[in-house]
Amino acid sequence: MIVVASSNGRIGIEAATQILRQGGTAVDAVEVGIRLVEANPEDHTVGYNGYPNILGEVELDASVMNGRTLESGAVGALKGYTHAITVARQVMEKLPHVLLVGDGANRFAAEMGNPVQPEMLLPETRTVWANRLRPDMNDADIEAIAERTDLARWVELATDPERAKGTVNFIAQDKDGNICTGVSTSGWAWKYPGRLGDSPIIGAGNYADNRYGAAACTGMGEMAIRASTAHSLVFYMKMGLSLAEACERAMIDLRDLGGRFISVMNLVAIDKAGNHAGFSSVNGRSYIYQTPNMPECEELPRTVIPIPPRWG
Ligand code: GLY
Repeated sequence: MIVVASSNGRIGIEAATQILRQGGTAVDAVEVGIRLVEANPEDHTVGYNGYPNILGEVELDASVMNGRTLESGAVGALKGYTHAITVARQVMEKLPHVLLVGDGANRFAAEMGNPVQPEMLLPETRTVWANRLRPDMNDADIEAIAERTDLARWVELATDPERAKGTVNFIAQDKDGNICTGVSTSGWAWKYPGRLGDSPIIGAGNYADNRYGAAACTGMGEMAIRASTAHSLVFYMKMGLSLAEACERAMIDLRDLGGRFISVMNLVAIDKAGNHAGFSSVNGRSYIYQTPNMPECEELPRTVIPIPPRWG
């Protein structure tokens, strides 16, 4: 039994581990852990008080995958609800679908009785958003930004390739050997409305298969979508590579992407025996894990496979 998470999962990993100690399922552990991250206003990359899109609206993406059945649920561009991971799980368990986005996701969240959070941003975070636009827009322009028909240009101005593409990853394996992966994010700060990253895309930011292992990504989601990173990593294990070899191979696939818009990528993964690994394209990144007999999580450095950034 084990829980592995990106380092911003620290606030939730003990609660997730406690679920496993009590004999609960990997799916429950992942949801409980991620909900605590989503509720944390200090984390501007996930859930409540996450950095908004270019219009100043928080749009959340999340997914969950049950490695026992490969059943999955995901939501994209969800607005007005803190716990995107719970809505993703409800998609998995209550619908014959895998992914709901936008108005449909909001409608379903309401139908499932999730509490509405009418104001997803604290005032100081709204100010950070406005200040990012302020060098190029005056207050009246910012006030009227929703009316604009040239958002693509402003997204480019507001884009900072190193800023706020964080996300939370949780992977849990329960007493029955079942694996679940969950990913939740507010996505790329100041993104174009409706932009989805890798987090709600099964196979890109999230994949779990009890027979081989699981993987999840943080970083620039577009890269993980282009390389199908989470599925590729698990597939490499299926083809006989060790966990470390599979992680390395998945990072090399990301490094070898052509074209523009190459930035930071990170992944965490486990194999079916519960061995764990964390990789990053940059120095100084870590991940955490906890087993039921550990009183607290341990933080480990990620193995670095450098990916030279390329932009514009
Ligand atoms: N990895 C999160 C995102 O790109 O939205």
